Amino acid sequence: MNKPIIALDFQTYEEVASFLAKFSGETLSVKVGMELFYSNGPIIVEKIKQQNHEIFLDLKLHDIPNTVKSAMIGLAKLGVDMVNVHAAGGKKMMEAAREGLEIGSQSGKRPKIIAVTQLTSTSETDMQREQLIKTSLLQSVMHYSDLSKQAGLDGVVCSALEAEDIKRQNGTEFLRVTPGIRLVSDTVDDQIRVVTPEKARLIGSSNIVVGRSITRADDPVAAYNQVLEEWNA
Ligand code: C5P
Repeated sequence: MNKPIIALDFQTYEEVASFLAKFSGETLSVKVGMELFYSNGPIIVEKIKQQNHEIFLDLKLHDIPNTVKSAMIGLAKLGVDMVNVHAAGGKKMMEAAREGLEIGSQSGKRPKIIAVTQLTSTSETDMQREQLIKTSLLQSVMHYSDLSKQAGLDGVVCSALEAEDIKRQNGTEFLRVTPGIRLVSDTVDDQIRVVTPEKARLIGSSNIVVGRSITRADDPVAAYNQVLEEWNA
């Protein structure tokens, strides 16, 4: 998975199908999130897989280790390429998640598993006031990143603004999957820490996740191609 990952934040399969049809058979990397998965169930993954797209299933699991392990056994059986958890669930939970994936991967190829550090919609002030974390946002992200690596995960979800530090600290192979991406011409919406695809590449993202900049564009294919061009430049 190294193409820009398109966040399929739609409610129905019909919307997804009409969106994907615009790309006339091109193999894409897509993200199925809570909105689509909870509205349609696992069948949605099956339908998208039939079109040969790579799937990042973004359900951000966060529960006790045993429950997350059992859930991951089920998700691995769907044959997705990447899944995630919240690092705030702790090291034991992350280890259990990885074990669950190993058990559930029938083909022997377990999906990549990454951990959300701090959401890209969270500001440092929000984090300090609401989560009572008394460090800087970057320190919190770096701590969660270390913890994820110790738990044997493949990488983290973070802001591109943190990717360089994570790359330095946890190594190039440790994935830095970064949402909060906007083209220069876009609005920021509810994201707080945003960068362009080009800047994300320059400052150390290993993968970018792009939603509304593509899905809500007047011409989604043109917007995707612009993201791709900046990302691959
Ligand atoms: O539309 P936009 O590009 O902001 O979409 C970003 C996508 O990435 C959304 O699906 C959102 O749920 C997801 N995401 C995020 N921040 C994280 C983890 C996932 O924005 N830390």
